[in-house]
Amino acid sequence: MDKRNLQLDDNGQLRHFLTIEGLKRQLLVDILDAAESFTSVTEQTVKKVPLLRGKTIVNLFFESSTRTRTTFELAAKRLSADVLNINVNASATTKGETLLDTQRNLEAMHCDMFVVRHAVSGAAHFIARHAAPHVSVINAGDGRHSHPTQAMLDMFTIRRHKGEFHKLRVAIVGDILHSRVARSQIHALSTLGVEEIRVIGPRTLIPAEAHTLGVHVHHDLRGGLRDVDVIITLRLQHERMGGAFLPSEHEYFQLYGLTEAGLETAKPDAIIMHPGPINRGVEIDSAVADGPRSVILDQVAHGTAVRMAIMAKAMQRLPTPPARELH
Ligand code: CP
Repeated sequence: MDKRNLQLDDNGQLRHFLTIEGLKRQLLVDILDAAESFTSVTEQTVKKVPLLRGKTIVNLFFESSTRTRTTFELAAKRLSADVLNINVNASATTKGETLLDTQRNLEAMHCDMFVVRHAVSGAAHFIARHAAPHVSVINAGDGRHSHPTQAMLDMFTIRRHKGEFHKLRVAIVGDILHSRVARSQIHALSTLGVEEIRVIGPRTLIPAEAHTLGVHVHHDLRGGLRDVDVIITLRLQHERMGGAFLPSEHEYFQLYGLTEAGLETAKPDAIIMHPGPINRGVEIDSAVADGPRSVILDQVAHGTAVRMAIMAKAMQRLPTPPARELH
């Protein structure tokens, strides 16, 4: 089955959120607009809306996570859903139960949504393909393939700080090769119509097919950052590296680490982003991570509202807002 169509139901409405690839620009804009309205929920005395009351959402994380798991839980609770956090290390998967059998057992308990993180690319698609008709699946990161909700909270953060997308130059710096975040960001930025997307990194960490994604490839940090509005840096994803891709982290920092001095070719008001977790002194200097241009903690804060919007949309509990003019 075509994984892009798998995300939509028979009426063309979002059911699963697995990848940005193939989704329409208007759908991404609808999610960003809905997230905007959900940010006000977090400012209310009672931080809840009843949109998913009676629904049961399962966090099924087979890989470690701080930001994604907790903001999904918070988002589900703010939508008034019941939340189950499965401790995979204490579950029957350690006794040899398959992913499919785990899914079938949870579905037998009348769960309505699975939020899935897995080290294997395609795991969330697999679960979605086998899901019961009433169940939605959200990809919370699969292998090096896709992390679509991270990309959406990043787009939300960019729009909040920079306004419309079409005039923006965005640079993504670092380990593009192993990054599911970079792949999803590139699809989202491209769908939302940014002027230019650059990827910057050593040859060993840029995928050979990068140009097919419509990005400009740079191997020199200063040249790549020239006149950019948004800088997204990524950590070295050692857990997905099968061998030595770099001489040393020290040398990597000298060439690609974000420092105040290294940022001088970017626009003076360029924002600094990082999906986390950050490795200080490897891909980013503390003075930049904690500096005035950093919006790293804004990204984390926006995660809850953006995930509320995606979950509500997938459960078809968001009215489609009237179309607005796109630039
Ligand atoms: N950005 C991100 O996915 O962080 P976690 O691994 O902590 O969820």
